Amino acid sequence: MKIIGTGSALPTLTVTNEMLSEFLDTNHEWIYTRTGIVQRRIISDESLTELAVSACRNAITNANLEAKDIDFILCSNIVNDYVIPGLSCIVQGKLGANCPCIDLNGACSGFIYALDLASAYLNMGKVKNILIVCADELSKIVDWSARDTSVLFGDGAGAMVVTQGKNLKSSHLSTTSAVAPLYYQRKLEFNPYSKNEEFKPLVMNGKDVYKMAVNASIQDINIVMQEANVSPNEVSYYLLHQANVRIIETIREYLGEREEKFPKNIHKYGNTSSASIPILLDEMNKDGKLKDGDLLVMSAFGAGFSSGACVVEWGK
Ligand code: UT7
Repeated sequence: MKIIGTGSALPTLTVTNEMLSEFLDTNHEWIYTRTGIVQRRIISDESLTELAVSACRNAITNANLEAKDIDFILCSNIVNDYVIPGLSCIVQGKLGANCPCIDLNGACSGFIYALDLASAYLNMGKVKNILIVCADELSKIVDWSARDTSVLFGDGAGAMVVTQGKNLKSSHLSTTSAVAPLYYQRKLEFNPYSKNEEFKPLVMNGKDVYKMAVNASIQDINIVMQEANVSPNEVSYYLLHQANVRIIETIREYLGEREEKFPKNIHKYGNTSSASIPILLDEMNKDGKLKDGDLLVMSAFGAGFSSGACVVEWGK
């Protein structure tokens, strides 16, 4: 597997911490010092599908390909306007691609899972170019009256095209079943034969998720670096899920690494779920920060509780 193109798209509406404190019992100081978030982008006039399609078009163009060259679309998504069909099917039609598509729900770690699945599929030799798109609008499932969760998330989409190659040096996925720390229970239609469960907007035990995230990420990173036989001084960048600057800092301190190796954009976009690493990677690509041969360690964690990490060499 190797990455040959990246793309991203974000909503136009910027919602600052100050804007949230107009209707929530919160303030910029609390949000910024606890999370590093200054503002986030929230879908208002546009749709998630439009963002996903735009991120995909950018990634396909960046890969010097056309939609007809895509053999498979893997979409990491947990919330959009439809339960069925999957967002990947809608995106495929709008792109004008002609290939099988599937959505996966790996919550915030969905991107690492998609990358790993893409690699396995490419190794089978069945396909040549896979489009991965991670798109989410957590703004549709948070309780906007709950200050402990609504201030954390933002909407966005990140995409990439991967093809056959030898640049995925190692990857590791893990899941430890735990619903209570982070979940959203959706509203279901009335069914006369079964009891109707209570609807719950996004519920999170922040402290539990924080601890699980730090432990899982450190463990995953150690495993993938060992498997790839990569030492810290060989790593160019650690691209961590943008959930909280304090989580990123704790992991960085544990690894004893320099701050400039941990690029961040959480201050601008908040936690965009599985789109966070692809958006970050696309920004770095556009800014010319990535050189051929750069070793990137990526690590994400989220509801499930699921986590994953990988070592990828940058270069077409
Ligand atoms: O993609 C994975 C998703 N989730 C995460 O990665 C989240 C991981 N967890 C975290 O990032 C942190 O736990 C939070 C940022 C969510 C919370 O930080 P914390 O230091 O764990 O704060 P806390 O939950 O212990 O809350 C401390 C206080 C509480 O007040 P009391 O009980 O001490 O009086 C909260 O009610 O802060 C209060 N609080 C707020 N105050 C102002 C909670 N949310 C807010 C808020 N503004 N938005």
